[in-house]
Amino acid sequence: MENIIEINHLTWQYNDTDHPALKDVSLKIQEGEFIGVCGPNEAGKTTLVSCIKGLIPHNLLGSYKGEVKLFGKDVKALSAKELAKYVGFVFADPEAQFTSMSVEEELAFGMENIGIERDEIDRKIQWAADITGLGNLLDKSPYDISGGQKQRVAIASVLAMQPKIMILDEPTSMLDPFGKDSVFNICARMKAELNMTIIMVEHTLDRLARLSDRLILVGEGKIRRFSEPKQFFEDVDELAELGLNPPSSILFLDKLKKAGLYHGEMKTTVEEVIQVAQSVCEKQRVIREARS
Ligand SMILES: Nc1ncnc2c1ncn2[C@@H]1O[C@H](COP(=O)(O)OP(=O)(O)O)[C@@H](O)[C@H]1O
Ligand SMILES: [Mg+2]
Repeated sequence: MENIIEINHLTWQYNDTDHPALKDVSLKIQEGEFIGVCGPNEAGKTTLVSCIKGLIPHNLLGSYKGEVKLFGKDVKALSAKELAKYVGFVFADPEAQFTSMSVEEELAFGMENIGIERDEIDRKIQWAADITGLGNLLDKSPYDISGGQKQRVAIASVLAMQPKIMILDEPTSMLDPFGKDSVFNICARMKAELNMTIIMVEHTLDRLARLSDRLILVGEGKIRRFSEPKQFFEDVDELAELGLNPPSSILFLDKLKKAGLYHGEMKTTVEEVIQVAQSVCEKQRVIREARS
């Protein structure tokens, strides 16, 4: 697989701050990967994805060292139009993105901006509305629907542009559980059905781990860990030291390991951990019966 994102020794410091927000970051992401990004507040997660989107250095002021390449091309040299084609960006607050008075116009807006033909715009609106389940909301005002629906509109409007890379920066942080669910379901659908590279910054770690091919932990402007979910959660104590609170199912499995009751590999979903717990219980029952 081709590395479509390549970051080499990137250091970035915002103007009027006294330390870099990113320090000597290097990483490579392959086409079609789902990458989960997590870490404490102020760690540098938004700054990292802003560098991939090209908002840094194009729209923000600061000092930039190193390079970010998309499809082998330096982000610094890409035009706003090229960047819009390569990378879509969904923010935590969907309303911050809205510019139109109907959902349909909202979905059309980005495409009109880059000069796509009307017929094609209509086709792409239908396609994006179908994936995000917005078919019956197209004539509604985007301000007049639920939080989860608003975020789906924001996702659909980015999706309609069919960017190669989709970045979602804490897209569920302002949503109720129902809205969170609907956004995670759409992310799962995008992963299963589209050959898109997806980068999702998210605090709901169990849901993120389930979707991600690899997880990035950002801490104090550095990449602290970058691996598949199973390896990522292997050392729970070290993660805690790095400011990350693993999902309770993983903490439970870690307790079983420390008690000498489980010696296998780390599991990342609740279902897998339940299976482990069942087999531990079964083993204990056999031991008890053998003793009695
Ligand atoms: N526009 C900005 N101007 C100045 N400093 C910023 C700006 N955005 C973020 N920072 C600083 O950069 C660091 C990383 O922030 P950020 O990338 O937003 O972290 P995260 O998304 O992990 O919470 C923080 O110290 C934050 O205060
Ligand atoms: Mg952030």
